[in-house]
Amino acid sequence: MSFTIAIDGPAAAGKGTLSKAVAAHFGFAHLDTGLLYRATGRRVLDGLDPVAAAESLRPEDLDRDDLRTPEVADAASKVAAIAEVRAALVDFQRAFARRSGGAVLDGRDIGTVICPEAEVKLFVTASAEVRAERRYLELTGQGHAVTRAQVLADVQARDARDSERATAPLKPAADAVVLDTSELSIEAAVARAIAVIEAARR
Ligand code: DC
Repeated sequence: MSFTIAIDGPAAAGKGTLSKAVAAHFGFAHLDTGLLYRATGRRVLDGLDPVAAAESLRPEDLDRDDLRTPEVADAASKVAAIAEVRAALVDFQRAFARRSGGAVLDGRDIGTVICPEAEVKLFVTASAEVRAERRYLELTGQGHAVTRAQVLADVQARDARDSERATAPLKPAADAVVLDTSELSIEAAVARAIAVIEAARR
């Protein structure tokens, strides 16, 4: 039996951590759909055409260890605005969502476009300042030389691009439960998400 949990929200809102925790709790498979766009963006930086890069994406492209850099995030956000790139990635995501045993997909348009029939939709958000601070700590922790101001400007630019694009813009589905993690610990956010999902499973 399939059961789909759609988790959307802007960059660095805590979606990834929350999705992993929820998937582990329920024993569901997890797909970070941002990786599909990052892998496509990475291949474009390597010289491929964006649509060709998305259409010929291979599993090993998702395993590269250089997908988490600010450069790739920027390239991902650009290719994600191309309708043909998004279209090339739809079938894979829908098949993953309907696999038996349950699935958690996190991204920007899972509840609105990819899985409008998902049994549970969460929209995880936080203020741009809180998200930039988290991303700053993560990047400097990995040894990247960035400033707080730069990271905030990147977060705001990516938010604008992701929310204002014509195809599948970032926005909560009408029936999504919104979780604002600005003042919520990750443990509290996970507990809330689990309560929402348990209520839907009954
Ligand atoms: O979640 P992330 O930072 O790894 O996502 C990278 C980029 O991919 C982000 O700028 C928006 C885009 N994206 C998207 O458009 N749709 C998704 N479902 C997931 C990510």
